[in-house]
Amino acid sequence: RGRVRRNARRRGVPERVCYSIQVTHYKQYPPNTSKVYSYFECREKKTDSTKDRKVKYDKTVFYGLQYILHKYLKGKVVTPEKIQEAKEVYREHFQDDVFNEKGWNYILEKYDGHLPIEIKAVPEGSVIPRGNVLFTVENTDPECYWLTNWVETILVQIWYPITVATNSREQKKILAKYLMETSGKLEGLEYKLHDFGYRGVSSQETAGIGASAHLVNFKGTDTVAGIGVIKKYYGTKDPVPGFSVPAAEHSTITAWGKDHEKDAFEHIIKQFPSVPVSIVSDSYDIYNACEKIWGEDLRSLIVARSPSAPLVVRPDSGNPLDTVLKVLEILGKKFPLEENNKGYKVLPPYIRVIQGDGVDINTLQEIVEGMKEHRWSIENISFGSGGALLQKLTRDLLNCSFKCSYVVTNGLGVNVFKDPVADPNKRSKKGRLSLHKTPSGDFVTLEEGKGDLEEYGEDLLHTVFRNGTIVKTYSFDEVRENARLKEGELKELLR
Ligand SMILES: *[C@@H]1O[C@H](CO)[C@@H](O)[C@H](O)[C@H]1NC(C)=O
Ligand SMILES: *[C@@H]1O[C@H](CO)[C@@H](O)[C@H](O)[C@H]1NC(C)=O
Ligand SMILES: *[C@@H]1O[C@H](CO)[C@@H](O)[C@H](O)[C@H]1NC(C)=O
Ligand SMILES: *[C@@H]1O[C@H](CO)[C@@H](O)[C@H](O)[C@H]1NC(C)=O
Repeated sequence: RGRVRRNARRRGVPERVCYSIQVTHYKQYPPNTSKVYSYFECREKKTDSTKDRKVKYDKTVFYGLQYILHKYLKGKVVTPEKIQEAKEVYREHFQDDVFNEKGWNYILEKYDGHLPIEIKAVPEGSVIPRGNVLFTVENTDPECYWLTNWVETILVQIWYPITVATNSREQKKILAKYLMETSGKLEGLEYKLHDFGYRGVSSQETAGIGASAHLVNFKGTDTVAGIGVIKKYYGTKDPVPGFSVPAAEHSTITAWGKDHEKDAFEHIIKQFPSVPVSIVSDSYDIYNACEKIWGEDLRSLIVARSPSAPLVVRPDSGNPLDTVLKVLEILGKKFPLEENNKGYKVLPPYIRVIQGDGVDINTLQEIVEGMKEHRWSIENISFGSGGALLQKLTRDLLNCSFKCSYVVTNGLGVNVFKDPVADPNKRSKKGRLSLHKTPSGDFVTLEEGKGDLEEYGEDLLHTVFRNGTIVKTYSFDEVRENARLKEGELKELLR
């Protein structure tokens, strides 16, 4: 029982949230180092090797630091028990006494276990071009120079919410472009890409973080864990930041038996007369289901549904574009089509389609392009995305990186950087950094402390964490506002 309780207390232990490599670094900095200053960026390509990649990800959405600070770094995170435990584990792990027990005891005694570091960051939700500083970290006590990069591991895990939010926003841009082109308005955009990723992620924590990152841009989700993360770590004015509708899965159809798909459909739509209901229709033959069951047998029930409670037909197999086009074509023959004022075909208000199989940023682009070519408006289709939205991403997609750029040794400040001969893309920035907006609206990172000069205007990096306390927070509404698609971006998309 004692051990169980001790394990339960481990959450947030700094000793446990860093790589082995960082454990011994306190012995490696130059003697008399009193400050280590590091920064995080999503590196920009300098050589144009990713030129042919379809999606360029020129800008990133900064999101998720507040979660990490709340969950792992704020308050009294160092305790005598944790130090003792870490000491024992590392003695075995390295087969040597290399753990910085003295350093941690200093933090315990002098700061009651609060971390003497300062973190400055751009506001959460900011959309910043690659290659700019996004946050900086430095020790506030000269004795604790080693702490700055100790916290690298946990802080760099922000790559994940940044990458999910950025990739989701790029998909929003695609949807916005085609929605505008095929209907002339952006109505319903926030519900066009639904998060289906819960079971496809590696853990419950991943689900919560990833789903919340998608909700920065959209409002449809089935990954309920994201709602908890947002409510607990950000807060919203609405009771919930994400919505869903009743939906069938294969088991609720196939449990009726192969000869009773129609009975299954009929039963389910009658269960939900006043809200949209999504019904997976490919258990046996999606085309038969659209043509015979929805289009004939149950047609009168569908036609009677109100526009606020449509049937949502969900294909779930086959080539995504071909399937979507064929399903639309069949439904278009069985139900009266309308043409919108841009000349694109629209299904009647009681029926729509959701494609949730095989959807990633590339297939999404192909499907909406294919629909446009075949004169279908994308008003009445939406998409679900799972693994590709929350899991099929790595830190390399946006080249997220944390590097030291400034140290003080023997009282002397030195701008430091790396510049590996084999890869100019990996050159890091020098000195103390600041982020500014130029009069023309571009972002620029100033190196070597030059941002202190008044001519550059205010630094967009704000202190969010100091000496164990979170000093600035953002609500999820602010995050969404910062990440909103801007007029200028829309204009550029429609060019
Ligand atoms: C470190 O600082 C101490 C005290 O100022 C000095 O005596 C010592 O020489 C310095 N060590 C190095 C390697 O510079
Ligand atoms: C980003 O990462 C990819 C994949 O590792 C690599 O090919 C590319 O050169 C990196 N770009 C930069 C700017 O570091
Ligand atoms: C943070 O801690 C450092 C080191 O003790 C101290 O110099 C600084 O004043 C503290 N800052 C705040 C805002 O408490
Ligand atoms: C189809 O799109 C139109 C225009 O955006 C909208 O008014 C209508 O409610 C949509 N119908 C369905 C079933 O989604």
